[in-house]
Amino acid sequence: MAPLQLAVIIGSTREGRMGDRVGRWFVDQARQHDQVTVTVVDLADYDFPASYPAEPTAPMRSFAARIGQAEAFVVVTPEYNHSFPASVKQAIDYAYDEWQAKPVGFVSYGCGSVGLHAVDQLRTVFTALHAVTMRDVVGVDLLCDEPMLATDELGRTAGVLLDQLCWWGLALRDGRARRPYVS
Ligand SMILES: Cc1cc2nc3c(=O)[nH]c(=O)nc-3n(C[C@H](O)[C@H](O)[C@H](O)COP(=O)(O)O)c2cc1C
Repeated sequence: MAPLQLAVIIGSTREGRMGDRVGRWFVDQARQHDQVTVTVVDLADYDFPASYPAEPTAPMRSFAARIGQAEAFVVVTPEYNHSFPASVKQAIDYAYDEWQAKPVGFVSYGCGSVGLHAVDQLRTVFTALHAVTMRDVVGVDLLCDEPMLATDELGRTAGVLLDQLCWWGLALRDGRARRPYVS
């Protein structure tokens, strides 16, 4: 069976962001999983328009194409004021059909929290887009975990999330091939 095409989306675009480090750590974990092929979609690479334009711009089209090619996603998101950052919402809104009937997992992080408020709100958004969100979350409290992102416990949780993404991702690949998803 062809490996699952997993896109890891780095959500923070802030200068000096920690998202880079957390994202790279997760990508290393994912590359050790024998059922997935990993690509990185770094939102900092996209010069998106500030508001939704009448016609999609080239960066919007390129982003939507990357999302369309992927079969599963992990959103690496910080928590900002008990939610996720605007950069993440902006990007999510620039694709639509491309998210449908695909699984989405989360790696969240914060300072003094593991960012679960951000994840809860992302679940609502992705449900509206007909995506399926994964139960287990890799949560990193930068105040505790950052110097030791390689701890066994975080690595184990990453493995659980990757297994869930594989199950759903491969099942939904078959489902989409059998009949088009109707939204
Ligand atoms: C505007 C803002 C709001 C924040 N709100 C929270 C929060 O609600 N909960 C939390 O755990 N950390 C919060 N933090 C801390 C961030 O999670 C932390 O700074 C993290 O490094 C941000 O991710 P980034 O560096 O990849 O942008 C906040 C940070 C910023 C800049």
